[in-house]
Amino acid sequence: MDSITVALPKGRMADKSFEVFASCGISENIQNEMSRKLFICDIERNLKFILVKPTDVPTYVEHGAADIGVCGKDVLLELKRDCYEVLDLGFGKCKMVVAGPTNKKNTFLSNKRVATKFPSIAEEFYKKKGENVEIIKLNGSVELAPLVGLSEVIVDIVETGTTLRENGLTVYEEIFPSSARLIVNKASMKTKSDRIKEIIYKLKQATERSYIKSHYRVQEYMEL
Ligand code: PRP
Repeated sequence: MDSITVALPKGRMADKSFEVFASCGISENIQNEMSRKLFICDIERNLKFILVKPTDVPTYVEHGAADIGVCGKDVLLELKRDCYEVLDLGFGKCKMVVAGPTNKKNTFLSNKRVATKFPSIAEEFYKKKGENVEIIKLNGSVELAPLVGLSEVIVDIVETGTTLRENGLTVYEEIFPSSARLIVNKASMKTKSDRIKEIIYKLKQATERSYIKSHYRVQEYMEL
């Protein structure tokens, strides 16, 4: 049996990633083990799991240090790493947006400054619109930028909208929806094809099951 290394993202997508791998029987115990380590082996199934920063997942997969990985569509579009995107896992749903101060929503500004963790996405977005902007790259807490005069707007992901609201910001424009994707190293897809296809198949089934479950819940709720 080919050995497979899986790169999983730390942070907000970690629990759901563990869950989906456990729910289809690929590896049930990763969550408990991962709470203590960044690298675990499931010797019986010849699987290795590594836990890395979400933005590093495509790097590990592109270079073959991991055969497969889980990362957000936002990260994939920003980094444009050379690997296959094979499955929408359906969790980690959020939106890439332009946001700014609520009281300045309809103010037009030329040559505005845009603070973001996603400079390529922001640049491409404004290029398509034909707008001249200055992109300011940040590594986190982007919502702070308009509050302290570093930028007029931000390009960032919004999940619940809480961070924007609590900082007096609002969505100006939606850029694209994002969710967790399964990515595969190009060489591994050829050399470990059977094993990888089996994993994709199992994860696809688990994803469809949870999609159906969440729709049942909505239906039940609506019938009340
Ligand atoms: C992300 C994003 C927003 C926040 C949005 O940051 O950059 O700041 O989450 O989530 P919400 O709509 O549910 O409030 P993250 O938590 O990854 O932290 P960071 O700013 O340190 O990168």
